[in-house]
Amino acid sequence: MAQGRGAAGGVRAVARRRQNVSHNRSFLLVVCCVLGQVGNFSISQLCLPARTITAVNGQLPGPTIEAREGDTVVVHLVNESPYHMTIHWHGIFQRGTPWSDGPAMVTQCPVKPGANYTYRFNVTDQEGTLWWHAHISFLRATVYGALVIRPRGGAEAYPFTKPHGEETVILGEWWNANVYDLQQLVFLTGDTTKAPHADAYTINGKPGDFYNCSNANQTYRFQVQSNETYLLRIINAALNTPMFFKVANHSFTVIGTDAAYTTPYETDVVVVFPGQTVDALMVAGATVGRYYMAVSPYDSAIPQGPPFSMTTGTAIVEYVGSAEETPQLPPRPEYTDTDTAFRFLSNLTALVLPGKPTVPLSVDTRMFVTVGLGVSDCQPKQLLCNTSGTTRPVFSSSMNNASFVLPEAVSMLQAHYANASAGVYTRDFLDQPPVTFDYTADASDNATLQYTTKSTKVKTLRYNETVEMVLQNTRLIAKESHPMHLHGFNFFVLAQGFGNYDQATATPQFNLVNPQERNTVAVPTGGWAVIRFVANNPGMWFMHCHFDAHLDLGLAMVFEVQDGPTAETSVPPPPLDLPQC
Ligand code: C2O
Repeated sequence: MAQGRGAAGGVRAVARRRQNVSHNRSFLLVVCCVLGQVGNFSISQLCLPARTITAVNGQLPGPTIEAREGDTVVVHLVNESPYHMTIHWHGIFQRGTPWSDGPAMVTQCPVKPGANYTYRFNVTDQEGTLWWHAHISFLRATVYGALVIRPRGGAEAYPFTKPHGEETVILGEWWNANVYDLQQLVFLTGDTTKAPHADAYTINGKPGDFYNCSNANQTYRFQVQSNETYLLRIINAALNTPMFFKVANHSFTVIGTDAAYTTPYETDVVVVFPGQTVDALMVAGATVGRYYMAVSPYDSAIPQGPPFSMTTGTAIVEYVGSAEETPQLPPRPEYTDTDTAFRFLSNLTALVLPGKPTVPLSVDTRMFVTVGLGVSDCQPKQLLCNTSGTTRPVFSSSMNNASFVLPEAVSMLQAHYANASAGVYTRDFLDQPPVTFDYTADASDNATLQYTTKSTKVKTLRYNETVEMVLQNTRLIAKESHPMHLHGFNFFVLAQGFGNYDQATATPQFNLVNPQERNTVAVPTGGWAVIRFVANNPGMWFMHCHFDAHLDLGLAMVFEVQDGPTAETSVPPPPLDLPQC
């Protein structure tokens, strides 16, 4: 455990390899308080004095975990931070290792300050770009990093021409304030508008040249050789903001999303929602020079919601041999450019490869689930909204009108494993909304329909059952494109559209040949998306909006997948070091 732990709480990612086909890769992640205090990692973004943030191995972003398909990854987490911590391996199936998934109180109790936990999982049947992040409070704002999965045969085995180089491009949001305190403030007041928006958008942790007191240290640079091809692994790690991604005078060929290969798709703009990844090839085919890589926000809310930062995060793509000239900035889409977002997100299709699972054609369970905003009564623990002693509504969000809260005494997976769900969760998540209404009409936005109650409901599935879920956004408070993420599985996205879902007109549009495979789908604003997956993974699997602000308000549910017939298809006993609450 002590191996690789360097001076002063700093970077300690240790990789070990064996010589056979699949490897054990072992990493050490130390979450700590950095900046100023510990000494080896100092950030003073946007000209403010250096302060302590929570980060991993003294890096922002944290270390990249590199693996090959078939590997076993072992990560020792040491929590030297003052906060409760968990890490989620976003997009990893965790088949047979549900105790390593990471969402606090769903699959584990948090790792307390000063404590450790070891995550072990296999990386199978997926290749491309995933990532890891804290799954508690808003701490993933600074606790995140890439997880790159190459084929067993390495880069030679890509189903596209091997690029000359690869670059991980992690998009983030930076707050000058302490994000833990922000989350507490939002929770205690029940008022999302109390939290200021991010102060900057970042690329690989750096905001770039268009913020106050930017300097060269705050701009990420990426060197390219003329006419060579680069694989950009783009990850949106921002808490709440979908992004448009451009590089001046360059275009892209998308070849993967969420660690699933796509049919090559040509575009000059990439759209990436929080939780999603996009793998895209970029040819350095422009005149030798310097070009800005730019990320700008996409705001899908109608009517427009709380203010967001109308700024552009940048990095510099720099050709070898270029002069120190001012780079060109690409034109950015309008903040509200839903057409561009929808075109990109709905045109992607899967690259069908021999032996790869394809979309199931028969369905066992059909669900129709509304996703959106609403209000709830102020909860007793929300001390700052409850001061008058009378209940009053606070912001909420829900799926099928159930606003999800995490249990507090024991994790849901522990309760499931012990057959002791009483008092922890209930098995009454609905397959349909409790009330049918015109989901996307302005006239529906009334107090009665907005009202939700808090609960911890799960949908129980038999092992290997096939689920089709229609996700329907509502007009309650505002329409908005919610990035819905499912743990433990990839799903196929059969169709998406605007307005109310209509089975008669939607079914003929289903792509049952090569639908895109995702772990996070951005349900179009005021619209719907249809997904299918096979419940081939026993355990407790969180499904939620990947905007942290909405997850906290209850835009979530959990699938409880029952054991299959064998030991391999059953939840194994918890690891001995599983944290206790
Ligand atoms: Cu990346 Cu539950 O999330």
